[in-house]
Amino acid sequence: MTADHPNTQGSQVRPGLQSRQRPEGLEWSEDLGTPPYPHPESPSFTAVSPYYDVLMRDVPYRGWVRYLHQLFEVRGAKPHRILDLACGTGTICEMLAKQGYDVVGVDLSEGMIAEARRKAEEQLFQLTYHVQDASCMEVPGPPFDLCVSLFDSLNYITVPAALQAAVHRTFDHLRPGGLFIFDVNSAFALENGFFDQENLKSDDRLRYVWRSEYDPPSRLCHVHMRFFLRSRDDVDEEFREVHIQFAYGETELNAMLAQAGFTDIQTYHAYTLSPVRPTSDRIFFIAAKP
Ligand SMILES: C[S@@+](CC[C@H](N)C(=O)[O-])C[C@H]1O[C@@H](n2cnc3c(N)ncnc32)[C@H](O)[C@@H]1O
Repeated sequence: MTADHPNTQGSQVRPGLQSRQRPEGLEWSEDLGTPPYPHPESPSFTAVSPYYDVLMRDVPYRGWVRYLHQLFEVRGAKPHRILDLACGTGTICEMLAKQGYDVVGVDLSEGMIAEARRKAEEQLFQLTYHVQDASCMEVPGPPFDLCVSLFDSLNYITVPAALQAAVHRTFDHLRPGGLFIFDVNSAFALENGFFDQENLKSDDRLRYVWRSEYDPPSRLCHVHMRFFLRSRDDVDEEFREVHIQFAYGETELNAMLAQAGFTDIQTYHAYTLSPVRPTSDRIFFIAAKP
């Protein structure tokens, strides 16, 4: 989630999140402090679910879908049935469904799936969503031509064995010749504080401060997220989440894919067809089921 907001050219933009300075005239009195913040441990994608789309309003999802099509072209792929793994509130599912694909979304978070279902119902989309954990998913129906997992969702699977299981489950859900496309935040991004973001614009109803801590021995990045939601009578209600991501290496992920049986594995500097660089903050993977 929002370790960056890449544009379609591959450069990184963080709309609305640029300022690290606390602007003049902020109304709430509590000092923002420095991490680690004292907080009750809260699972990720719970309290934030109803606000996820507001937070992601500047994310160039359309550009990402265009990039997916570029990758299909590179592989000569013409998928029809698509699994969006860790689909969140279903924005990518909706875009793909609008283009005529048959899409199924899976996500661990009940709150995110509730939002996805609410949006689909509102817009009369025929979309199927399941609350399931990627590492043991059992999605009903015929095998998929393609599985996508976007926006560093797989970094949230913080136990390598669980991610390996998720890669196996994905393999099992694809038809022979099917593709798996996903992106991750690189270790470079997590080590270099790409999650340190804030939006403290006083006219926004939802403001937030995120501070990350990367722990090299465990390779875990803890992101302490504080949100301030202004009510109609101008009172700020605060809620918090802690998001945890694991810094997977490119070689290690390639090995996990191969271990599950994937072949023709290719990696890219995100949103380009260029090779990964030492400073790539986001890496795309594409792999095929033989
Ligand atoms: C950053 S959000 C991305 C959501 C969506 N792909 C998007 O692009 O907006 C990461 C998502 O991964 C989901 N997730 C984390 N661990 C998961 C798991 N083990 N199985 C399925 N989904 C998971 C979270 O619930 C969350 O919705």
